[in-house]
This record gives sequence, structure tokens and C-alpha cells, in this order.
Amino acid sequence: MTTGPIDPTLGTYPASRMRRNRSSDPVRRMVAENRLSADDFIWPVFALDGQNRRQKVDSMPGVERLSVDLLVEAAKEAAGLGIPALAIFPVVDPARKTDGAEESWNPDNLMNRAIRAVRAACPEMMLVCDVALDPYTSHGHDGLLRDGEIVNDETVAVLCRQALAQAEAGCDTIAPSDMMDGRIAAIRGALDGAGFQGVRIMAYAAKYASAFYGPFRDAVGSKSALKGDKRTYQMDPANSDEALREVAKDIAEGADMVMVKPGMPYLDIVRRVKDAFGVPTFAYQVSGEYAMLMGAAERGWLDGDKAMAEALMCFKRAGANGILTYAAVDMARKLRP
Ligand code: PBG
Repeated sequence: MTTGPIDPTLGTYPASRMRRNRSSDPVRRMVAENRLSADDFIWPVFALDGQNRRQKVDSMPGVERLSVDLLVEAAKEAAGLGIPALAIFPVVDPARKTDGAEESWNPDNLMNRAIRAVRAACPEMMLVCDVALDPYTSHGHDGLLRDGEIVNDETVAVLCRQALAQAEAGCDTIAPSDMMDGRIAAIRGALDGAGFQGVRIMAYAAKYASAFYGPFRDAVGSKSALKGDKRTYQMDPANSDEALREVAKDIAEGADMVMVKPGMPYLDIVRRVKDAFGVPTFAYQVSGEYAMLMGAAERGWLDGDKAMAEALMCFKRAGANGILTYAAVDMARKLRP
């Protein structure tokens, strides 16, 4: 039975058969609308104090915290595989955490030492540097806490100092993940005022208060410290129009790139942001997403490589220009021609 075409471009069966374009690997490659390569990846890494130290992260199979010397070697390998960018996160000594997060702008803190070392070894690599106070506060929040509240404007002033210290260390991409209001404009102003006009900002623009960050907080050791939750500053997972307002504000304030986080449960947001603004848009396949895939693969419940490659491709289909993924190095090796 044939039915009349709804849209003339669709054609009718049997003259039109969708399966013709799926019949072989070459034709499938020819009609593929998206491609995945090492160019798409930003590799998040965890920096440790000390020398020649590596620690496995229990809840993230295949992920290790590395001391700066080993991190430099890992960065060189990633660059060699064609990965353009690293996102560095420090595992801060609990003795350095304070209510005022003073360690966050120390020019010689672990983060800035890691930036300097990787920058020296990989002069061209994009170094995406997290700006938020959670590694440095005694309570594990991204901002300063006063009388039970995260105070916005005082926090922003500290974030500016933190961003400047990172830029001075050699960071080329400041990535505020704190979700305070007005931080992009303030950080842009601080960078420009100090002569860092060329340092770009990748805003964690639509960042949700998510349960999928659990393994990350394990990895950096902010989980036990965190009192309460982050719902007074990170977004409500129920909202999508609000994400567009967040992104619009960050772009207006000077963001060069924007990010949606988490990733896979939020692909609708990635698509809406890309369609609405057309700016370079990134998605973060967060620790919990990675842990789910790797955990199921370890049990033999999923083909881990195929599921990971599919999940990453779907970010591209949704409109992401790139993906922050803990699987970057592993995938880049497997995608190598
Ligand atoms: C901290 C920060 C978090 C992540 C990146 N930066 C955790 C949080 O907001 O609590 C999460 C990354 C991940 O889960 O992989 N500002």
C-alpha cells in the first residue's frame, strides 16, 4: 500500500526507501550528519599536591588524580592525540580551606602551579580553568557564606581575584562555574583592567543543581565538606526558558563561549541554546554520567566503548561544538585513524 506524500520531498514507498542510504558502511559515512573526533574534546583532569603521585577515583573507573609532574605528561599525551583542551580541577588540601576561600587567589596555589607547568609543556593548548570557590571554602559552597546565605556580590569580588591569578599563571580560558549573578561582566572587567584582553571566558551559563555531580565531589574531596545543597544558585532541573535567560545574560556580559551542564539529561537545553544564540556551545558530560556508563560497562551490562561513543555523538547532534568528557583520552585513542 502506498500513501500520498505529506511533504513532496519525502517521496513515497516503494519508490522511496530510507534504507538505501544505510546499506553499507561507505554510504552511511557519506550521509552522516555529524562526526566525532578528538577536536571535540575538552579533557577534565584532577591535580594533586606532591610529586609522582597518582590516585584512582573509586566512583570514576579509569580516572586518576595526578600530581602536577604526572599531569604534565598526561597533557602532552592528550595534545599528541589531538585533544585541544584540558579543564583543570585542583584537589585542595583540607588544611587550606577557609571560610573566606583565601587560597583561591594565591598565585602559588595548586591550580596555578598546575596551569604554569602545563602551559610550559603545551604552549598552545586551551587550558579551561574553573572559577568557583568550592575547592577552597570550608563549607564546600561555590560562594561565601554569611548567616546561612551565599552572598553574591562579595563572592564575585573574590572570583575576580581568582580569575586574575589564573590568567597570570597562563590560563587562556577562564571558566566561571559558580553561578553567581553578574560574575561574567565583573571578571571581564577585571581581566581587561589587568591587560588580559586576550583571555577568553567560557561561562558555565546553564548549570543545574544536579545529583549527577556526586563522583566529582568525591574526586576533589568537596563532598564531605558540603553543607546543604546548591539550589540557591544553581538552576532548577525543571527549567528551560530560564536557561536561555542565563545564557543571554552571560553573552551580553562578555562570555565568548557558553556551556550547559550536566550533559545527556539536558540535551534539549543544548539544542535550544545553540538555536537561539549560535555561539560556541559546550556540554559537560559530568562525573555521574561517566560513572553510570563505566559502571554498567564494568558489570558487562553495556558495551562501554559503543555506549560512550554514542553518548558523545549525541552531544554533537544536539548542537554542541565540543564536550567536556572524562573519556576524552580513551576515545581519542579509539577514534585515531
Ligand atoms: C564546581 C564544579 C562542579 C563540577 C564542575 N565544577 C561541582 C559542583 O558544582 O558541585 C562538576 C563536574 C562533574 O560532576 O563532573 N564549581
